[in-house]
Amino acid sequence: MIIKLENISKIYKNNSSIETVALRNINLEINKGEFVSIMGPSGSGKSTLMHIIGLLDSPTEGRYLLEGNDVSSLSEDILAEIRNRKIGFVFQAFYLLSRKNVIENVILPSLYADYSHSLRRQKALKCLEAVAFPEKFIHYYPNQLSGGMMQRVAIARALMNDPEIILADEPTGNLDTKTGEAVIATFQRLNKERGLTIIIITHEEYIAEHTERIILLRDGQIIAENKVLNSRSLV
Ligand SMILES: Nc1ncnc2c1ncn2[C@@H]1O[C@H](COP(=O)(O)OP(=O)(O)O)[C@@H](O)[C@H]1O
Ligand SMILES: [Mg+2]
Repeated sequence: MIIKLENISKIYKNNSSIETVALRNINLEINKGEFVSIMGPSGSGKSTLMHIIGLLDSPTEGRYLLEGNDVSSLSEDILAEIRNRKIGFVFQAFYLLSRKNVIENVILPSLYADYSHSLRRQKALKCLEAVAFPEKFIHYYPNQLSGGMMQRVAIARALMNDPEIILADEPTGNLDTKTGEAVIATFQRLNKERGLTIIIITHEEYIAEHTERIILLRDGQIIAENKVLNSRSLV
């Protein structure tokens, strides 16, 4: 088991001390190599759950075991280090730097690692290849690319530090159906071929159907966990 959440709760307090319970008593286990989706209405706690799993935020209560190690009470610095090494993120809005071209964007997460420039470049090319990004576009800037292409670049960037887990928050939210399916096919391939553990948040049933398990949130609680029978393979 790669991820285990035990009685996780998250309460946000704003400056007039109004409390919002974003997650309550979440118990969740995710196996290494699983491809899981998280669904639920807006405000149900999906992004909060992803931030906690991704070590971008800490729970108010509960225990988080990542590969069997309790990460609930580690310092910010150590969490950042684990996050950079183990987790790749993909977001709805891509978050590519507009002044950098495709390959420079993919290289970004590795700038702290002790690689030579040519090794970084080689690695970035491999990551772009892994998401089927056409080589002839690698010197293009983000505003010259379609949404689907930008999301491929963002996925390639997420692969740059060889993560074990990919977390994607509505990765197809800005894409049309066909492009969205192509992005999901990319995730399926990474899941099958590299054994990456992948968790995606999605609003769309047809996207969730391509994963192996759907976790349904409502009002900060898991209200259902369904294995997807006949998960539709696109690869
Ligand atoms: N930084 C924050 N401060 C205060 N409340 C927040 C914050 N982030 C999220 N919330 C609240 O927590 C609840 C869950 O939000 P979120 O995890 O973003 O849900 P979802 O991603 O499912 O739309 C919502 O009521 C939201 O308003
Ligand atoms: Mg959200």
